[in-house]
Amino acid sequence: MILFDFAKRAYQAAFSPPTPAKRDDAIRIGLLGASTIAPIALITPAKSHPEVIVVAVAARDRERARQYAKKYNIPIVHDTYQDILNDPSIDAIYIALPNALHYEWALRSIQAGKHVLLEKPSCSNAEEALRLFKHPLVTRPNAPVLLEAFHYQFHPAWQTFLSLVHKVPWDGAVEHVHSQQHLPKGYLSRDDIRFQYSLSGGCLMDLATYPLSCVRQVLGRGEHLRPVEVRHRPLPPAPDGTVAEPQIDVGISATYVTDSGKSAKIEGDLASAGEYPFLPASLSKALPRFKWPMTEATLAEATIEERDDGLHHYVQRKVTLWNHLIPTIYHRIDVCDKHTLRREGEIITTWNETKYVKAYSWPKGDVRSNTYQEWWTTWRCQLEEFVNRIKGRAGSGVWIDGDESIAQMEAIDETYDQAGLMPRPTSAYQV
Ligand SMILES: NC(=O)c1ccc[n+]([C@@H]2O[C@H](COP(=O)([O-])OP(=O)(O)OC[C@H]3O[C@@H](n4cnc5c(N)ncnc54)[C@H](OP(=O)(O)O)[C@@H]3O)[C@@H](O)[C@H]2O)c1
Repeated sequence: MILFDFAKRAYQAAFSPPTPAKRDDAIRIGLLGASTIAPIALITPAKSHPEVIVVAVAARDRERARQYAKKYNIPIVHDTYQDILNDPSIDAIYIALPNALHYEWALRSIQAGKHVLLEKPSCSNAEEALRLFKHPLVTRPNAPVLLEAFHYQFHPAWQTFLSLVHKVPWDGAVEHVHSQQHLPKGYLSRDDIRFQYSLSGGCLMDLATYPLSCVRQVLGRGEHLRPVEVRHRPLPPAPDGTVAEPQIDVGISATYVTDSGKSAKIEGDLASAGEYPFLPASLSKALPRFKWPMTEATLAEATIEERDDGLHHYVQRKVTLWNHLIPTIYHRIDVCDKHTLRREGEIITTWNETKYVKAYSWPKGDVRSNTYQEWWTTWRCQLEEFVNRIKGRAGSGVWIDGDESIAQMEAIDETYDQAGLMPRPTSAYQV
């Protein structure tokens, strides 16, 4: 049954989403760049949204854009990115360009009066993020909608995980958070945009930006994460022996503390390998390694009851979300409550209560379950809320505002600084 459900969700999400007729007032989206991610993050999700049509694409090479348009049934091909912005029939722009171009093209799009779905990370660094999200064109009344595409936050699995952490039936405070995300070695080629400093690459700018965002979400906005120890693995020398891109982190791990005494750890790797227990290290480290994306929150021990006879009941909760990244395919939230009875500080007994929670949609009875479907990917959920915001509807209530995007870039800059790496370069573009 589990396998059948999995196959059904995966098939519907990837290959066979229902394709309702498009409404007359559907939002017409243009793509900047013939990117790898757009089919997953926007083109397929848009098929099942009656209020979204992907209408145009432009690439640096027109022929590439034409082939891409043909493959994905996109009716208009423009010659340049700017031509997309100049097209009055287009309402919104999807920016999946190298990170170094996010700031400029987001600002240009907003200037052109278009709504923007902006790939993560929003900008190259905090300075750019401040300039973008606090720009008068963005903050003015009725400004176009601008959203950093942290898609995982829009899925019910992530929101359910957060509520299991934050809405405990006792006074529970998060003590520690750990989040990780890895890509197996060999998935990305050496010339990938992620390995180029001038394009604002790096693991923390790409894959590890998720764990950083996850721990920040769990700890909450009020907590400033101070990096304590940051380690990174640089790009290995090229086959001809030259050392290139010394500012690039292929893998990174960092620990943090907050002023209120909480702690966090993140790990990310764009080329994860090794740790096969029964193989010699030389062979093991050459082999790609798969690790589940995971976020785990440990709460402080809380008092449940203090009885008159001196028996005190305590509980400590740990909540783990396996696969925050692609929860539609499969995820599991483990809620483990460790109970302890103590008398005068001495442990009398302990026991564990564990439950496993799934949240492929919002729970029955929740009004959001009327629209959200079990096969919706994180990107489809995100698109739903992007459209709701443009149309002025309340939606699920999940949103990523400019302050959040700025704070995320500040955390990235501070982490790079602690690692001894430079923040990614600032764009010269000015408005
Ligand atoms: N939300 C997610 O799940 C997710 C997943 C992966 C990536 N992303 C983000 O999406 C963005 C794009 O990632 P991707 O994997 O789709 O990358 P990609 O396939 O390399 O696409 C990048 C696009 O940018 C265009 N581009 C413009 N100037 C460029 C330059 N100087 N060098 C290289 N490309 C240039 C490319 O060329 P053309 O104009 O010729 O097409 C290409 O279409 C990144 O910001 C990344 O962090 C998000």
